[in-house]
Amino acid sequence: MKTLLLLILWGTIGNHTTTTGPGDGRIIFENECAKCHGLDGTKGRFGAKNLQKSKLTDAEYLKIVSNGRFIMPAWKKRLTGEQINQVINYIKELKK
Ligand code: HEC
Repeated sequence: MKTLLLLILWGTIGNHTTTTGPGDGRIIFENECAKCHGLDGTKGRFGAKNLQKSKLTDAEYLKIVSNGRFIMPAWKKRLTGEQINQVINYIKELKK
C-alpha cells in the first residue's frame, strides 16, 4: 500500500523531463547538462564553468543547480529534489 502511494506521488509531483532511479546522476548529467558542460564537465559552452575545477560547497551546488545562474537554467522545475542531489553527486565525482 505504501509503495503504491509513493508511485502515485512520483508520477504526479513535478514535471521532470527524465525518468530516473537512484544512482542515475550520470544519465541526468548526460541528458541535461552535458550540452553546455560537456560529458567530462570541461566544455564551457556559453561561458559554463569547468566543473572539474569547481570549488563549491554542497549548499552552493544545490543553490546554483536549483535556481540557475545567468545563462544556466534553473533545474528545480524540471528535476525532482532527488534528481538534483543525484546529479550533484555525479559532478563531484567528475573532479576526481
Ligand atoms: C544552457 C547551458 C547550461 C546547461 C544546460 C547547464 N549549465 Fe551549468 N552552467 C552554465 C553556465 C553558463 C554556468 C556559469 C554561470 C556563471 O556565470 O556563474 C554554469 C555553472 C554551473 C555550476 C557552477 C560551477 C562553479 O564552479 O561556479 C554548476 C555546479 C553547474 N553549472 C551545474 C550544472 C548541472 C548539474 C546541470 C544539469 C542539471 C547544468 N549545469 C546545466 C550553463 C549551463
